[in-house]
Amino acid sequence: MENFDIFISFKNTDSNGRQTEDSRIAEMLYKEFCSRNISAFYSNITLLKLGESVYKRSIDNALDTAKILVLIGTDLECIESRWIKYEWESFHTDILNGVKTDGEIITYTRNINSHSLPRALRSYQNCSITDMDVSSFCAFAENVLNRINASRQAGVPAQDSSSRQEGPANASVLLKAGSHHKSVYSSSYSNEISRLKIQAFNSSSSDQIALDHIRDHGGFREHSVILDAGCAYGYVAEDRFGHADWADKILCIDNNESVIEKARQMHTNPKMIFEAADLESEDFSEQFQNILDRHGIEKIDIIFSALTLHHLKNPNKVLRKLRRFLAENGRIILRGSDDGSKLCYPDHDLMTQIIQKSLTAEGVSDRLNGRKLYTQLADSGYRNIRIFSNMKDLSSIDYDDREGLFKESFAYRSDYFRKAYEKDPSDMRRRNDYEWMLAALELFEQQFYERNFWYCEYDYIAVAEK
Ligand SMILES: C[S@@+](CC[C@H](N)C(=O)[O-])C[C@H]1O[C@@H](n2cnc3c(N)ncnc32)[C@H](O)[C@@H]1O
Repeated sequence: MENFDIFISFKNTDSNGRQTEDSRIAEMLYKEFCSRNISAFYSNITLLKLGESVYKRSIDNALDTAKILVLIGTDLECIESRWIKYEWESFHTDILNGVKTDGEIITYTRNINSHSLPRALRSYQNCSITDMDVSSFCAFAENVLNRINASRQAGVPAQDSSSRQEGPANASVLLKAGSHHKSVYSSSYSNEISRLKIQAFNSSSSDQIALDHIRDHGGFREHSVILDAGCAYGYVAEDRFGHADWADKILCIDNNESVIEKARQMHTNPKMIFEAADLESEDFSEQFQNILDRHGIEKIDIIFSALTLHHLKNPNKVLRKLRRFLAENGRIILRGSDDGSKLCYPDHDLMTQIIQKSLTAEGVSDRLNGRKLYTQLADSGYRNIRIFSNMKDLSSIDYDDREGLFKESFAYRSDYFRKAYEKDPSDMRRRNDYEWMLAALELFEQQFYERNFWYCEYDYIAVAEK
């Protein structure tokens, strides 16, 4: 999506559907900015080019990237109307929150003095349409823009709008980081149990690759003990190991006690053991040793962990701790995912935005975990590491199962934003982010049902030895 310097905010039509005067002024400003080579977002033209379906996200993208918001008002009612208010209020909130420290709002009004403007707008420059023609106003706005650009070049302030761009810049920051923050994910979110069930089914061919590899290299030992670290409801553990005649015990641990309790009730297979334990707690090793002692387990033969590492603050530390409990030549299987593996065609724009936006969510898991598995294992003392990939795509599944793949890979993304919003419902930014993600996911889900739409992603599966 395009970046804009100036966002022109105006009410397009009145209550009778007629074009407003504000809209005509907006058009003149847009043309003047174009003639000055300034990239301006003017919804009547910019959105025509982009198409209706991307309306709201295009507006949000323009608001995100613009350095100046120009608000046109020949009538206070227009300024207060729903969508116009959304535009200037969210821009103003970004400035207050330090997201756009150098952002500016300039009002261009007629017969409205600063004092009668809504409180939030009073501290900004108010230019009079009567006193300042379009050309002079645009020259003024251009000066403000030049000042912002010059100060950015001299040394960008801490958190301006450009550093907020969620694309490669943020991704590389996440990539460089040796450890991640702990994610706020919870497997007891309302729809998570059904999503995990779908995911367990969809990823079975991925885990099979790892199991085949281990079997072919003599890794299935009689009376094996399997550990599933981050097991949630145990769907995966039961399906992959529950009926293996070479496995005696399947010890499943998770730090979510309510999930463990539910899992105990759900499974009747006597091989399955469920215990609550936090992989990242300081005394994990002692706690885990106690669990092993209680169940008469001496060593673990295979550690299995699916889609859990990316929720941890320090995956390497956890991998190192687990390694001590592994029998000599014991194996480890890790399954991760990576947002970089997601492709679609045609129209990848919305998916890209959703993925980039996900990276900005508070407490989001490490969305780029798949590519790190090799290094994480090597750094944690494992050897003979092999990485496999397994593609899941829309061509390989039944039309009716498309919903499942969408749910597995996208639907949960609004949970992160919902959690942040629920922490402080009065925070406009959080509300906007949450609403944006809901709207974007709804649109994207529709794409999944278009027959010519293709989507794919890879599971990353790592197998290694102690
Ligand atoms: C996305 S779920 C995956 C569950 C299961 N492995 C599967 O593939 O269906 C991640 C699980 O890791 C668990 N988890 C996250 N952090 C953990 C920690 N520090 N210790 C133990 N479990 C943790 C969560 O509670 C959650 O059940």
